Amino acid sequence: MRKQLPKEPLGRDEILEKLKGYSIDDAEPSSGRLFTIAFEAGVDEVKKLVYDVFRMFMDKNILDFTEFPSSIRMEKDIVDIATSLMNGDEQVVGTYTYGGTESVFLAVKAARDKFLVEKGLITLPEIVMPVTAHPCYDKAAEYMGLRVKRVRVNTETYTVDLDAISEAVTENTALIVGSAPNWPFGTIDPIKDLAEIAVDKNVWLHVDACVGGFILPFMKKQGENIPDFDFKIEGVSSISLDPHKYAYSPIGASIILFRREFYKMFSQFVNLKWPGYPIVNPAVLSSRSEGPLAATWAILHLLGEKGYMELARRIIDVRNRLISKLRYLGYIIMGEPTVITAFTSENINLFRLSDEMVKKGWYFLAQRGIPEMDIPPSIHLTITPIHEKTLDSMLMDLQTVTEELRNIPPSDVEEIIGSLGLIINLVTPREMDISTLSQLLKEVEKHLDVYGPKLLEAFGLDKGIPKEMALINQLFNSLPPSITELLVNYIVIQLFKKGV
Ligand SMILES: Cc1ncc(COP(=O)(O)O)c(C=O)c1O
Repeated sequence: MRKQLPKEPLGRDEILEKLKGYSIDDAEPSSGRLFTIAFEAGVDEVKKLVYDVFRMFMDKNILDFTEFPSSIRMEKDIVDIATSLMNGDEQVVGTYTYGGTESVFLAVKAARDKFLVEKGLITLPEIVMPVTAHPCYDKAAEYMGLRVKRVRVNTETYTVDLDAISEAVTENTALIVGSAPNWPFGTIDPIKDLAEIAVDKNVWLHVDACVGGFILPFMKKQGENIPDFDFKIEGVSSISLDPHKYAYSPIGASIILFRREFYKMFSQFVNLKWPGYPIVNPAVLSSRSEGPLAATWAILHLLGEKGYMELARRIIDVRNRLISKLRYLGYIIMGEPTVITAFTSENINLFRLSDEMVKKGWYFLAQRGIPEMDIPPSIHLTITPIHEKTLDSMLMDLQTVTEELRNIPPSDVEEIIGSLGLIINLVTPREMDISTLSQLLKEVEKHLDVYGPKLLEAFGLDKGIPKEMALINQLFNSLPPSITELLVNYIVIQLFKKGV
């Protein structure tokens, strides 16, 4: 049933009570039980300061930075700090955005427009990147009319295969992307080598340091083996780095840096064509609360270099203990982990492992593999300082679950899903061309009303989000991505329409 605006206003206590009820099934980000999505410093003063500062600035709108010059002052400081962490010179300029995806949109827009200025609109500009790069590049490409070529990674190191990049770059390439580190495996692409290709071919190189920008410099200072990945390398055109990851800001904080002021001109939006106020948007979004910006400024100053060094030390310690236990339990570590560690297994169903750990209150991320690139399914663990307090008890549960699952063969249903996936994979093209996709969408539109609800029922999604995801994950893992994307697209519309 559709919710209506209440006829009579609710009281404050009733509102708080109702919202508490809404959040009853939520994971608790500061519990130290999430090994994905939550970036927790585990420092009480950080939380206290965020609440105060957020409240102080939440009503102010970055949109009108002339009315609220505090936004210019704070943004300048944050961009300067990010630039110095990334070894940028006086030419480097940047923009504060509300997230990594938004920063990447600005980088892609700038690279695309520079490409068009130099080459003219002769073809669809292309992004060339390793398969491990975040899907926000595909999203930017979909929104802005580019094509993406994802290339293989070396399956020893899980970093980009340079030959594959060289082969994929053509005169249509507008930008190359490398990650420091990537999300799935936490490994750092060889940015220096990518930069050589970029300079040689006169192509924009974007470094995605959304995850690593605020942590790798501090790990490097502690003797960790972190290759150069920033503006020290000639040929790096732009870098994205997110305070809402390893600077521990509240969500809504990212930075895009451009090597040259001129590049930033391609990324901004200025419009004086209507009778209203002049629009000058350095970012994609227009109206934005100053709350997250101010909280970011505050946290960077509260922790300072000393604080970030200490938090990096805790992460290194947790990661090292985690890796040695994973090896002891027989898991295979994928590449050289940084702040993210990923592992795989030849005899344990990792989708079931993830479900079993959720039952014990630990949130792991099960990742689909890519069989044609020899990438097996895996488990992703994001490590943050709070895990110093919870690692030991997590590892005890992991050992128990591992021992239980070690000798359980795949069930009949799992076997059937596997074979079904194999057949569908054989008859479905990896990359859909426009005409196949439009044919498919026409069929979907015809049958959706009848088969959609049945589909939800079959997945148990008609009753909300299922507690056990292993079979669904397994099915998604074996179906071609283009089919899974359509399924998920429909399912999520229904979840938000029906509520859970
Ligand atoms: C490497 C990388 N780049 C970009 C993004 C997108 O960031 P956001 O979720 O802040 O939009 C992510 C998110 O996890 C990421 O891991």
